Amino acid sequence: MKGAFWISFRLMAFASIISSALCATYSRSENIVGTGFYNSFNFEAITDPNHGRVNYVNKTTAMSQNLTFASANTFILRGDWRTLINDSSTTGRNSVMIRSNNAYTTHVAVFDVLHMPQGCGTWPAIWETNGATWPNGGEVDIMEGVNDQGNDQVTLHTVAGCTMPASRTQTGFVPPSYWSSDTNPVTRSISGQLNCDTSVNGCGVNVGQASSFGPTFNADGGGWYAMERTNTFINVWFWSRKATNVPADVSTGGTTVNTSNWGIPVANFPNTTCNFPQFFDAHNIIINLNFCGDFAGQASVYASSGCPSTCTSYVDNNPAAFDNAYFWFNSINIYQ
Ligand SMILES: *[C@@H]1O[C@H](CO)[C@@H](O)[C@H](O)[C@H]1NC(C)=O
Ligand SMILES: *[C@@H]1O[C@H](CO)[C@@H](O)[C@H](O)[C@H]1NC(C)=O
Ligand SMILES: *[C@@H]1O[C@H](CO)[C@@H](O)[C@H](O)[C@H]1NC(C)=O
Ligand SMILES: *[C@@H]1O[C@H](CO)[C@@H](O)[C@H](O)[C@H]1NC(C)=O
Ligand SMILES: *[C@@H]1O[C@H](CO)[C@@H](O)[C@H](O)[C@H]1NC(C)=O
Repeated sequence: MKGAFWISFRLMAFASIISSALCATYSRSENIVGTGFYNSFNFEAITDPNHGRVNYVNKTTAMSQNLTFASANTFILRGDWRTLINDSSTTGRNSVMIRSNNAYTTHVAVFDVLHMPQGCGTWPAIWETNGATWPNGGEVDIMEGVNDQGNDQVTLHTVAGCTMPASRTQTGFVPPSYWSSDTNPVTRSISGQLNCDTSVNGCGVNVGQASSFGPTFNADGGGWYAMERTNTFINVWFWSRKATNVPADVSTGGTTVNTSNWGIPVANFPNTTCNFPQFFDAHNIIINLNFCGDFAGQASVYASSGCPSTCTSYVDNNPAAFDNAYFWFNSINIYQ
């Protein structure tokens, strides 16, 4: 046992030298800013597969209702905040889902976000998937949460056969259940959250920083999410706008990035017991704001969030409560 441990330890050390020498520096292939979002993304006016109280609108409607808005250097994407929904036969409140035209396998994506949607009933997400035969092809949730509760949770979803080790080099922690507003990284039962199989739940990592999600993220002026995907690992980092350790290549949106200098990620998904090329296809970036649905609207989740009424009733009847339900982006940079 001891001998085997040392052999594998030395192989790992060698592999990490190889990867930092060959794989950690990337060049910028896309710099998506302002009106560039309209060129890089498609609007998905689809029926929400997650049963949200939402009506995803097309580009024409989004622009005419000012649900998306681009200036020279920022892009806003939001849910409707002006309309009382008084017809239960509709699917709900207008909102927007956009999907990148380009798809990516190995890459780094850096999201410079000034503000994210907040409010009871909101379910904002920045994620990547292929989707055609989901859960085949996998899914990476980079920024996700509901009802202003807790921290950002980073999650992988796959078909059966991809699991994560309990011990990993990350600053976040494995939460006790698929969704927990719990914010304290103490010892817990973590068996369920190590299986990325979406029919079990998914393998999540709670970022463990209040500034990573919702009203606190917004009060701090937002921050940066970054993901590095290789054939042997997926890492996600988060830095608050107020953090003092933001790497210069991240804060300046540089033309190259060197992830070797970014420190320990908030979430680390190694390939110890998951063959990444088998479970993850080329992914599009998806940004959306859902309301209620399978996550935010789940009765136990909504009730435990301290939000009033029922999710659907609240979303339908309180348009002004969604005044702050908007994403505000400085940029998205892709490096390959
Ligand atoms: C956009 O959606 C509106 C409302 O459903 C519809 O009337 C319009 O034809 C759509 N436009 C396009 C270009 O699909
Ligand atoms: C659309 O939204 C932007 C950003 O909030 C705002 O600056 C602009 O005035 C709005 N336009 C209209 C016509 O309301
Ligand atoms: C529903 O709301 C619209 C305005 O948003 C209003 O014109 C209409 O009268 C309302 N209908 C009912 C049945 O309350
Ligand atoms: C990337 O950063 C690592 C760690 O600081 C360094 O060893 C390596 O030389 C850097 N790579 C490049 C191409 O600058
Ligand atoms: C993880 O990556 C290493 C290096 O490429 C490879 O040898 C190993 O087979 C991979 N593990 C799995 C489970 O795919």
